[in-house]
Amino acid sequence: MQHAAITVDRYTPVAIVLHWLMALLVIGLWIVGSLMSDLTPPFKYTVYDLHKATGILILVLTFFRLGWRFTHPVPALPSSIPRWKGQLARIAHWALYALLILMPLSGWAMSSSAGYPVSIYGLFDMPALLDKDVALAGFFKETHELLANGLLLLVAAHTAAGLLHHYYYKDTVLRRMLPGRKGL
Ligand code: HEM
Ligand code: HEM
Repeated sequence: MQHAAITVDRYTPVAIVLHWLMALLVIGLWIVGSLMSDLTPPFKYTVYDLHKATGILILVLTFFRLGWRFTHPVPALPSSIPRWKGQLARIAHWALYALLILMPLSGWAMSSSAGYPVSIYGLFDMPALLDKDVALAGFFKETHELLANGLLLLVAAHTAAGLLHHYYYKDTVLRRMLPGRKGL
């Protein structure tokens, strides 16, 4: 039997694929971003280019994902979860979406204001977001680093919450974001 649109019990396959693909990419970008300034050229430049292109990919995927989110039903939380916790989760999820937009934007602004191009895997360059301004590049570098630290904390809390629900509360919260059978 078809579920009514609002009472689905898991995320749609598209939302699930996007969630896990983007989680992998974001964690990869975080690790590579933290290590890449210690590399030696010319390999270093290749890695910077890949970091930048994949960061822009995250920006594009986030807009697509939000478009999907607003046009498809999201499963309601299990009734065992207190209201305040549901609200905390909502705030955390929207903060994650905000960071998935602000991280790439701050990186793009950093590169543009430093006078560097942002090449999309060598296929074409993104337009410069800002004119060259070295002081501003320093500001966006700080911002990018600060946001990255915030993202790390939030993802750690988010992951801990997901695992806690699965292994401690033993509810459906993690399973509805995993591929699986219809009835969870
Ligand atoms: C979700 C997307 C992104 C994540 C998670 C991410 C993460 C990071 C992290 C963790 C660092 C190291 C910060 C530090 O401790 O110094 C970094 C550095 C950097 N990121 Fe990103 N980044 C993203 C997107 C981008 C984009 C789109 C660009 C440019 C178009 C970019 C350009 C840079 C540059 C140039 C650095 C090196 C700064 C330096 O050391 O001089 N990032 N990134
Ligand atoms: C960089 C890594 C990650 C990011 C950026 C991220 C982001 C998000 C976002 C934005 C949502 C909200 C979905 C929506 O309702 O629109 C979400 C949901 C979810 N995430 Fe993650 N996530 C990450 C990693 C993980 C990991 C490692 C786990 C494993 C425990 C996980 C488990 C979940 C679960 C279970 C939900 C559904 C929560 C609910 O139904 O209310 N996520 N994630």
